[in-house]
Amino acid sequence: MDNNIIEVKNLKVYFKLKNIFGKKKNLVVKAVDGVSFEIKEGEILSLVGESGSGKTTTGKALLQLVNCEFDVLKFQGKEMDLTKKGLNSFRQKAQMIYQDPYQSLNPRQQIIDIVTEPLEVNKLISSEEERLKRAKEALEQAGLKPGEDYFFRYPYELSGGQRQRVVIASSMIMSPKFIVADEPVSMLDASIRTGILKLMIELKEKNNLAYLFITHDLSLAWLISDRIAIMYLGKIMEIGEANIIINEGVHPYTKALIRVMPKAGVKRDGLRDVLEGEVPNPTSINSGCKFCNRCPLATEICFEQEPEMKRIGKNHYAACHKLEENSEE
Ligand SMILES: Nc1ncnc2c1ncn2[C@@H]1O[C@H](COP(=O)(O)OP(=O)(O)O)[C@@H](O)[C@H]1O
Ligand SMILES: [Mg+2]
Repeated sequence: MDNNIIEVKNLKVYFKLKNIFGKKKNLVVKAVDGVSFEIKEGEILSLVGESGSGKTTTGKALLQLVNCEFDVLKFQGKEMDLTKKGLNSFRQKAQMIYQDPYQSLNPRQQIIDIVTEPLEVNKLISSEEERLKRAKEALEQAGLKPGEDYFFRYPYELSGGQRQRVVIASSMIMSPKFIVADEPVSMLDASIRTGILKLMIELKEKNNLAYLFITHDLSLAWLISDRIAIMYLGKIMEIGEANIIINEGVHPYTKALIRVMPKAGVKRDGLRDVLEGEVPNPTSINSGCKFCNRCPLATEICFEQEPEMKRIGKNHYAACHKLEENSEE
């Protein structure tokens, strides 16, 4: 049996925008447009791409937090049970950690209430004594020691790093198996990022957790993940083992992202110097490859036909009509 924690095939999230001028037909944003991947137990898959590429929406769709369509969505090897009861039980095992720890914490709640809320909601606490014990354990597991020192504080009394630790403590209290971490350190000072990342890895090792780790930072993805998926305008362009993507990435978009990766002591170009233009508006996408307008290798076929995912090597796939030309560079 495969040991996939989650598997999705042909995931689509379309947002209908009301046309404010009325008459013309409504615009559709294809935020996620046919995405497929799986994540194994204990694995970290990073989802990397520029802002607007559909990363957050993909994460939310996996956790059934937005309306979506798919051909397959399996959790722990079984078709997802989309009834209220099924989703409730799924949400105990799958959690989302957002970018901004302040936004995800209720400013009027004390830390103890925030951390133990998932237990309360699921009626899993029988006494106040047990609640205090579980809160202490969760906070200390997240590196906030001694836990009781934090019980009666409010989010505004904590630093950004401490707040993200509270978010992590609260996400971990139900012993989840899968976490969608959406840019979990990008709002934090560089000096505290490492501590939070270390904590996330530690908890993963201890609990055999799997992560979908969302980031716009390819070097961070390389550092922490087993595999990397490169996303552009709602599609996965390339996916493979982290080292392979960084050292042998084949897609022209992947190559552009690699060229602008910061390197110690070397001043790098920005993505704007390497690629023309910006990510286009996802309501006005052409029928061919989503990247064709910015791709240095694009020819007629790229504007006409969407490329299929092709196998490049072990666990390595890319969607591009120009792979052969590109590999001869
Ligand atoms: N609720 C929404 N309604 C309409 N459009 C949305 C909504 N959420 C996201 N989008 C659009 O979907 C696209 C992908 O967004 P998002 O998933 O947030 O990308 P990323 O996380 O990669 O920056 C963007 O064009 C965004 O404007
Ligand atoms: Mg996002």
